[in-house]
Amino acid sequence: MITQAIIPLAGLGTRMLPLTKAFPKELWPLGKISILERILIECNEAGIKEIFLIISKRKNIIKEYFEKDYELEKKISKDASAIKKISILQEYRKKIKFIYQNSAKGLGDAVNTCRKKIKSDHFLLILPDDIIIDKNCSRELISVHKTHKSSVLATKKIKKEYVSRYGILGFSKKKKDVLDINKLVEKPKISEAPSSYAIIGRYILNKKIFKFLSKAKIGKLGEIQITDAMNDLLLSGERFNGCIFKGKYLDCGTLDGYIKSFKEVGAK
Ligand code: UTP
Repeated sequence: MITQAIIPLAGLGTRMLPLTKAFPKELWPLGKISILERILIECNEAGIKEIFLIISKRKNIIKEYFEKDYELEKKISKDASAIKKISILQEYRKKIKFIYQNSAKGLGDAVNTCRKKIKSDHFLLILPDDIIIDKNCSRELISVHKTHKSSVLATKKIKKEYVSRYGILGFSKKKKDVLDINKLVEKPKISEAPSSYAIIGRYILNKKIFKFLSKAKIGKLGEIQITDAMNDLLLSGERFNGCIFKGKYLDCGTLDGYIKSFKEVGAK
């Protein structure tokens, strides 16, 4: 059973500077709720019981967001609707554990901070830059995992000219919306891409990934990549499936993407 999720939030958000300098993009609104709350709702609906939010000292405001504010609550105590709006944060807080990444050494390093926390064989990893609306993507991945007992990556076919922006998977077989993955390549050149299927930010991974993440070396950009460790896991014999999810993907990692996503979501 998949009951634990890791949500890394400790990145620097350089593509959205200066807006992200003091206020993390994960707390920005997308429609009537924040990006992070959309992810937490997805986790809740998918049956996740424990959520590890990876933050850094410069993103302590995320922790504060979920803390009880006695003074505020006293001031609004007669306003039932305002109380209701903030009490939902307390509900989320019960499932959340905050973990600190000391310096932004990449997604792989961020995930590795949870190596001693994962209890069952597989866990869910969600990247908040990638919002998927209309259908619960984590739930779809969990269902594929239940059937195939594999690691599962959310995937979507993209235009060939964009492959160098994404992790791309290669596959040996496609049955309905499930692919048998045989290769994973991070941001390949068009000529070297094994397919046009991009990895979108939802993963179910075997906890053996931590063995490879712990051994991983920091790459050229000063970061530990998760794709390298996933490839090592694949080569070690772990089965990987791609799940072509049904929901609509919104890219909230760039300013243009965020603006487009906000228009798409509207007042929802
Ligand atoms: P990105 O590589 O997209 O980085 O991280 P970023 O910081 O969010 O944004 P840019 O690229 O600088 O604009 C993918 C996910 O991994 C987390 C990020 O918070 C994001 O959710 N991450 C990244 C960490 O938690 N720690 C890191 O060291 C790097």
